[in-house]
Amino acid sequence: MAEIRVAALVGSLRDGSYTQPACRHALSVAAEFEAVETDLVDLRTLSLPIFDADVDDVADAAELRSRLRSADSIVLGSPVYHGSYSSALKNALDYCGFDEFEDTTVGLLCVAGGSFPTPTLDHLRSVSRALDAWVVPHQVAIPRARECFEAGEITDAGVRDRVEVLGRRMVEYARIEPDPRTFESTQNVGADGR
Ligand SMILES: Cc1cc2nc3c(=O)[nH]c(=O)nc-3n(C[C@H](O)[C@H](O)[C@H](O)COP(=O)(O)O)c2cc1C
Repeated sequence: MAEIRVAALVGSLRDGSYTQPACRHALSVAAEFEAVETDLVDLRTLSLPIFDADVDDVADAAELRSRLRSADSIVLGSPVYHGSYSSALKNALDYCGFDEFEDTTVGLLCVAGGSFPTPTLDHLRSVSRALDAWVVPHQVAIPRARECFEAGEITDAGVRDRVEVLGRRMVEYARIEPDPRTFESTQNVGADGR
C-alpha cells in the first residue's frame, strides 16, 4: 500500500518531448523509495478544453483534479515557451486550485531549446506559491535540451544528477509540516472554486 504518492504534470504535448522523459526519470527515482507510488500525468491523454471559469467541470477535468489531489508531491514540468511556461500546463493549472495544491510539495523542472530557462521556473514558483504549495528550493533547468537527451534518456550527467535530486526531494519532503499561508495565496480569491 502506497504511503506517499508523487505525481508529475507534463506541460509538453509534443511526441518527442524532452520534458516528458525528464519528469519520468524524476518519478522513477522517487519510485525507488519504499511505499511510494508515482503517476505521470500526460496531458495528451486528457481532454481539457481551454479553461472557462463558467464551466470548470468539463471533459477530463475531474480526473485531472482527482489525480493531483491524491498526490503528496507534484513535479510541474514545462517546456520554455517564449520565456515562460506552456499554455498546456497553464490550462491544466487553471482547472486546479487550493484543493489540489495547498500544502502540497511541488518540484519544478523546465526544458529549453536555448540557454536561458530560469524565468520559466520563477513563473512556476510564483504560481505554486499563489496556490499555497510548498515549493522545494532545488529546481531543474535543462538548457539546450537537444544536447542532453538521446532516445528518450538523459545523457548529460549533470542534468541527470539534478533530475534525480528532484525525484528524491519529492519523497523526502512529501510530508513537510505546512507553513502559514502565503500572503499571495490569501489574495488568490478565485482559486478555491468556492
Ligand atoms: C512556441 C514555442 C516557444 C518557445 N520559446 C522558447 C524560448 O523562449 N526559449 C527557449 O530556449 N526555447 C524556446 N522554445 C523551444 C522549446 O523550449 C524546446 O523545443 C523544448 O525542447 C520544448 O520542450 P519539449 O521537448 O518537452 O516539448 C520554444 C518552442 C516553442 C514551440
